[in-house]
Amino acid sequence: MLTRTLNPASLRPTPESVVDCLNPDAQLDDGSLDPDIVVNLLGVTYTYEGEAAPVLRNISLTVNRGDFVLILGPSGCGKSTLLHLLNGSVPHILNGKLEGTAVICGKIVADTKVADFATDVGMVFQDPDAQIINTRVRDEVCFALENLCRRAEEILICQKQALDYVGLSGFGDHSIFELSGGQKQRVSIAAVLASRPRLLVLDEPTANLDPAGMAEVFAVLARLNREYGTTIVMVEHRVDELADKVSRVVMMDQGAIVFDGSPRAAFAARRVLHSGDADVVPAASWFPQVSELAIDLAAASQRELPSDQVPLCVEEAADLCAAWVIPAEAIVVSARPVVRSRKPLLSAFWWVSTRHPPTQYTSEERISQGSEPARSRPISAMYFRIPTISS
Ligand SMILES: Nc1ncnc2c1ncn2[C@@H]1O[C@H](COP(=O)(O)OP(=O)(O)OP(=O)(O)O)[C@@H](O)[C@H]1O
Ligand SMILES: [Mg+2]
Repeated sequence: MLTRTLNPASLRPTPESVVDCLNPDAQLDDGSLDPDIVVNLLGVTYTYEGEAAPVLRNISLTVNRGDFVLILGPSGCGKSTLLHLLNGSVPHILNGKLEGTAVICGKIVADTKVADFATDVGMVFQDPDAQIINTRVRDEVCFALENLCRRAEEILICQKQALDYVGLSGFGDHSIFELSGGQKQRVSIAAVLASRPRLLVLDEPTANLDPAGMAEVFAVLARLNREYGTTIVMVEHRVDELADKVSRVVMMDQGAIVFDGSPRAAFAARRVLHSGDADVVPAASWFPQVSELAIDLAAASQRELPSDQVPLCVEEAADLCAAWVIPAEAIVVSARPVVRSRKPLLSAFWWVSTRHPPTQYTSEERISQGSEPARSRPISAMYFRIPTISS
């Protein structure tokens, strides 16, 4: 396992100063830090220098080894600030007042320099072009280890492994300039993986990527977490593509954590969150379309949808809804509100269902008639499998 075997930090005895800061849940029977706990925040409040109001409010968060945590929330609610705390940039670079206790990889953030988190926490940001500083893939991936003065043989082994992990074996000699956006972001991820961090932190890593680049990056992250047990904390808005890949969802609102649980529990009900100026933000911003549609269809057909059955991907939704018989009218009625959410697939679903009563055509006929907008294909695969009765 990548993070488990290669970093011996968890084997060191826990210093007493750290033990004093620990959440009791993070302690073993002898009082030492549970090595499975990578992030331990307890009542953290943070106020940027010169600001009157805190940007993080009483945050308590525990991240265990092997977790894949997705952080969601409206713009300005403090997501990036929370990520900066995880490698000590807050409060050591982005200065301000830190209250409460924060222990990351067994080190007290308030007492640890950012450089001392270099081999514990790997940070990846939105724009690979802003993060990458070398012109050749191999140089970029070796860069951090060279700065840490590691031996040449070790650097070569780590570099090769890191490129393997992100699916870029054989790209070492390529110029960064000839890579796609998704490939560049995978180089950024390889560059931080080369130092074998215990925690991978990503702030909207696909914000500047096209759908293909986004899919590449999410596939790599899912594989790193599933196959190598890499612990990941990520801020992302693309819930449709991530809901079935992450193990936990944390929702923030106005500097506080308002939900922390499984993805299914997170998307079993709509939640009201607020933007910085306290306007309510549409729930659709962080709600997977398939979860939203299943909840709507269940409500429209007066059906119970237990939270442990809320679908997180099209396949799950198709399987679930295939067992439902829903009046055609209910489909149209239930789909209508989602048009307001402006999510393209749900809008397409509504478009298909309003123009073509569900019982009228088989899916093959509908596709051959070209009545299906290209982008509606995944969600309409679910739509076509819902048995309907005309009312
Ligand atoms: N260096 C700083 N000094 C003072 N205020 C800051 C600083 N950085 C961010 N802020 C403020 O802190 C608040 C939270 O910012 P942050 O970037 O953490 O939000 P976010 O949830 O990541 O937003 P987004 O989704 O837009 O990226 C905002 O009001 C922002 O203006
Ligand atoms: Mg941000």
